[in-house]
Amino acid sequence: MVPDAIREQARELREQVNFHNHRYYVLDDPVLADVDYDQLFRKLLELEKEYPELVTPDSPSQRVGGEPLARFEEVAHLHPMLSLDNVFATEELAEFEEKLHRYLKSSVPITYIAEPKVDGLAVELVYEQGMFMTGSTRGDGLVGENITPQLQTVRDIPLKLQGDMDLLPDQLVVRGEVFLERSGFAELNRQRAEAGEALFANPRNAAAGSLRQLDPKVTATRPLRFFVYGTADSGAVPCRRQSELLSWLAGIGFSINPHVKLCSGLVDIQAHYVHLQKVRDELVYEIDGMVVKVDEFFLQQRLGNTTRAPRWAVACKFPAVQAATTIESVEFQVGRTGAVTPVARLKPVHVEGVVVQRATLHNQDELERKDLRIGDTVLVQRAGDVIPEVVKPIVENRTGGEVAIVFPKTCPVCGHPLVRPKGEAVTRCVNSHCPAQRLQNLIHFAGKSGMDIEGLGKKNMEHLVAEGLVADIPDIFRLRKEDLARLDGWGEKSAENAVAAIEKVKRTTLARLLGALGIRYVGEVTAALLAQHFGDLEAVMRATKNELLAIEGIGEQAASSLVDYFSDASTGAMITQLFAEGLEFFDVYF
Ligand code: IVH
Repeated sequence: MVPDAIREQARELREQVNFHNHRYYVLDDPVLADVDYDQLFRKLLELEKEYPELVTPDSPSQRVGGEPLARFEEVAHLHPMLSLDNVFATEELAEFEEKLHRYLKSSVPITYIAEPKVDGLAVELVYEQGMFMTGSTRGDGLVGENITPQLQTVRDIPLKLQGDMDLLPDQLVVRGEVFLERSGFAELNRQRAEAGEALFANPRNAAAGSLRQLDPKVTATRPLRFFVYGTADSGAVPCRRQSELLSWLAGIGFSINPHVKLCSGLVDIQAHYVHLQKVRDELVYEIDGMVVKVDEFFLQQRLGNTTRAPRWAVACKFPAVQAATTIESVEFQVGRTGAVTPVARLKPVHVEGVVVQRATLHNQDELERKDLRIGDTVLVQRAGDVIPEVVKPIVENRTGGEVAIVFPKTCPVCGHPLVRPKGEAVTRCVNSHCPAQRLQNLIHFAGKSGMDIEGLGKKNMEHLVAEGLVADIPDIFRLRKEDLARLDGWGEKSAENAVAAIEKVKRTTLARLLGALGIRYVGEVTAALLAQHFGDLEAVMRATKNELLAIEGIGEQAASSLVDYFSDASTGAMITQLFAEGLEFFDVYF
């Protein structure tokens, strides 16, 4: 039996953590420092560990991802999930309105709502008595896949709705878009390119790939977000129009897209379309168009649906953003794990207001598949990625003076011979002392997916390495204010802040350190597994390959890589230095 006081304490902690989660992720307006949030969360986890019966479906502990599924179960949608008809914004919107008037047998002015069309994946969420019960993909529109545990990891999906439960419908079915921000998408593709895995073509595929992971712990590592945009049954909500519905949904805890606009006619809609095209690049996520909906629910109900799509809404897609330019040269960049990536230097070209002068060519196979040459006129596109991509050469423009792109045999930075293992797409420099790899490793260590040292981003780290202040990881912990303040572009204040940030991260968790070291195949998830299993660093360092392989979720590649890493004498020496500089663990994971 759980004592009442403990039960009450767990309930309070749950509410507090959920409250601060909402402030942070949905409202983007935290009112609590990260460390204090972590403390509340840890306290709750401790209670749940001691009394597992305290774990409720709305507990924030559910967000880290539960047990892997054997397969996805099917879920029938109570109301079909339809798609949208497309129209060309300028030409066909008037036709759309004419059709509405014909169906309504009236030419009264119609109020519309114009919403950004976020490039992600449609999902349905079912809440019962305010609790998130089931989440599913669209599937064929009638039956989707049950991805509830995966969706529980998405931070701006409320596990429990806010407000007066008596005012909520017993069952609320909402729909919206799960998506990855540009940075999350780019980072995911960067990791995949380094690991020699196929790249996601766009954020939608990446979001889908992240949600369709049988193991929700993997989903939990992807920075997925969610905007709600509607309900399956407008008769079941206390709202009379779409615009009201969105405000109501925001009030009970959902994220809604801030760029929606109420429009009193076609002129307003056009203006919003132009506006969205303008702000498109400033958004941290991709939008691929605008959705126009009739605002009034009673009109929506009168208009009804075809089998495919509602009659009361249309999508206006943005035109594809491609431009032609020339490849001036190709550079070969060496990443953290030694992966060599060809990058094209392009004659600068405007693609939708942004100057593009570099584009990734991914790897040797991609180069050969596209048959690219230096001097080629090429089509480039910005495909939902911060890094633009070369689509194809315009072969008709060839003059015969184009030069073949030759993949180097040796590392362009250290000269060590490159290797491309059979069956892999990636060519690597395998010299672990290669300065390029070292630099990338240091950038990773200090960066967001490493120790997250504020003020030591990529640019600053490059500067510190170039100045000779940092050559290896312990050097970062040894940085002094006087040394930093002397550098160009640094001042007393920024030096002081950086040193304070370094001091702060010295007190860390085992999982974070393991993830930050940059051991190949050891990302955040594997690091957390190791930390959880072994509990202390020495045990991880001593682990044999078989011991590692016995841990669920750790595969052959990670196990070999760990053994190689920790059997290298320089690793032990480096870790001793880190402890000498004040490294300490306040916990195992988080
Ligand atoms: S409404 C029945 N609103 O676009 C109408 N859809 O085919 C349901 N999408 O994959 C769609 N943003 O997930 C609607 N603000 C928005 C949207 C939106 C993105 C997606 C939707 C679906 C596709 C429509």
